[in-house]
Parts: sequence; structure tokens; C-alpha cells
Amino acid sequence: MDSTLRLNNHVEMPALGFGVFQTPPDETAVAVETALGTGYRHIDTAAAYGNERGVGEGLRRSRVDRSDVFVETKVWISDYGYDATRHAFDKSVGKLGVEQLDLLILHQPLPTRFDLTAEAYRALESLLADGVVRAIGVSNFMREHLDLLMRTATVVPAVNQIELHPYFPQRDVVAANDELGILTQAWSPIGGITFYREGGGSTLEDPVIGGIAAAHGKSPAQVMLRWHLQQGRSAIPKSTRPERIAENFDVFDFALADEELAAIDALDRGVRRGPEPASLTLEEYGRPIPEA
Ligand SMILES: NC(=O)c1ccc[n+]([C@@H]2O[C@H](COP(=O)([O-])OP(=O)(O)OC[C@H]3O[C@@H](n4cnc5c(N)ncnc54)[C@H](OP(=O)(O)O)[C@@H]3O)[C@@H](O)[C@H]2O)c1
Repeated sequence: MDSTLRLNNHVEMPALGFGVFQTPPDETAVAVETALGTGYRHIDTAAAYGNERGVGEGLRRSRVDRSDVFVETKVWISDYGYDATRHAFDKSVGKLGVEQLDLLILHQPLPTRFDLTAEAYRALESLLADGVVRAIGVSNFMREHLDLLMRTATVVPAVNQIELHPYFPQRDVVAANDELGILTQAWSPIGGITFYREGGGSTLEDPVIGGIAAAHGKSPAQVMLRWHLQQGRSAIPKSTRPERIAENFDVFDFALADEELAAIDALDRGVRRGPEPASLTLEEYGRPIPEA
């Protein structure tokens, strides 16, 4: 298993990244600095998380060379449209304090305003052509959104970041990604959304995952991350606790057997825990993203 993945435009991306969704802005610099000190070389943030400044601060404090870190961020739906999305890039790099992004993705499809979504993607294509982003992609795009996008896109997205954990592996979307040559990146890779949102069982307490973890002397989170990596996906676990940041990176010294991967595959409950991409609207989810 390779710890680096090659995107469809040959850009290389560390498979295991560090997420910062819900990381408070004033804790983000420390979390990112800790992650980089631990060995992570890929950070996933978003304009909508309100902590891009902290990510930039952590990056600088770490003293890791900028060129050694893969920085990924997302454009929020309120900034969709050609000019607005070009400007969203300026806002993000201004807050991050970097000149170039390694990966810029659309955070959500806007099914009721797909015209705006397509224009936002056209802006990403222009940023790629300008050389100020190294790769572009999407997030939470279902097969129908990818099909719609490909009617006007000239660049196939490099990445589609989707909710993906043992209870919701979204095989239909992964298959659509594979058909188009798009790399699947898992958000809530250890099932965070199954336990930080009320109303369902936690993947961390799953007996099958727990059994596999015990057999390897590893934790349930480590087993889930290994399940992603061995199946060729990128995963971006989030934590603000140093011991968990380290635990989630310590996944390169063991391997799951095919039967173990299959046993985790069989845990699919077919129930989405995050927002339903088909019904996401500007009216409900739109909110202004501040200037840099
Ligand atoms: N594109 C999208 O729409 C979207 C949506 C959601 C997330 N994301 C991205 O994906 C990243 C990861 O997803 P996520 O944050 O939803 O969920 P996650 O990484 O699966 O889980 C994070 C949760 O698990 C806890 N945790 C972390 N490591 C642990 C461990 N080893 N053992 C036990 N608990 C642990 C964290 O708490 P502590 O911090 O207290 O450790 C946090 O509550 C996000 O940070 C974000 O970058 C993207």
C-alpha cells in the first residue's frame, strides 16, 4: 500500500490527511502544528470552517517547508458563480497566507442552481490554468451531479470528497468516481458523524471493528483508517487531541486481511448522516464568507 496517491493530473497527494472541521479557530493553529510535527503532510480545511487563518498559522509555526505540505480547501456555496469563485480563491489564500493551493474543491453541489455550480467549477478550471491551484475537484457530488458537471467541464475533477465510513460506504458514488478517474476522499473516515451527531450507533463502538482492532493490537479508529488506505482512498481524520492526532497517523505498521476488509465492508447500513446533497439549497445553507 502506498501512502501517496497520484491524482488524475499526476499531482501527488499524501493519502492520509488531517481534517479541521469543527476545530475552533483559536485551537486550529496548535492542532495543525501538532499534526505536522507528528508527520502529516496534508491538511483539509474549508472556507466555511472559519479556520483557514489558523491553518496558515499552524503551517508557518511548524517550520515544515510549504512545498512539503499538501493544502486543500473548499469553496462555500455562497461563493458559487465564475467571478465569486475566483474571488473565493483570493479570500482563502489570503487567510491561509499561501500563494498556491494544492487542491481546491467545490464544497457541495447546488442542485437547484446547478448553473452556478457549473460556473464555479469553470472558475476552478481557470485557476488551474493560471497555475495558482495544482488540482481541482468536488465534494458531496453524487453520480447525477457528476454527470451534470461533465456536460460542461473540460477538466475531470481530481477528487470527490464524500461522507464515507463503514456504516455508509457509498459504493454507488465510489463506482461513479472510479468510472471517471476521480479519486475518492473519505470525510468522517472514522465515522465522526455517527457519534458527534445524535441518533445512531457509533462506528467506534462497533463490535466487528472492535474485534479486528483487538486482534491487531490497534484501535477502532486505526482499523477504519487502514480500511480506507488499503482500498486506495484518501482519508482525512480530525482531532484536536495530540494523542489521537498521533494515533490516527500510526497506521502504517499493520495490514488488514482480505476477510477483515470484507467484514468491514459488510457493515454498510445505507444511511446517510450528513446533509442530503440532492436537497441542499442556498436559502437554507447560504451564509457570507468573510473577506481575507
Ligand atoms: N466535505 C464535507 O462536506 C465534509 C464534512 C465533514 C467533514 N469533512 C472533512 O473531513 C474531516 C474528518 O471528518 P469528521 O471531522 O467529520 O469526522 P472524523 O474525522 O471521522 O471524526 C472526528 C471525531 O472523532 C474524534 N476522534 C478523532 N480521533 C479519534 C480517535 N482516534 N478515537 C476516538 N475519537 C476520535 C474527534 O474528537 P476530538 O477532536 O476530540 O479528538 C471528532 O469528534 C473533517 O475534519 C473535515 O476536514 C468534510
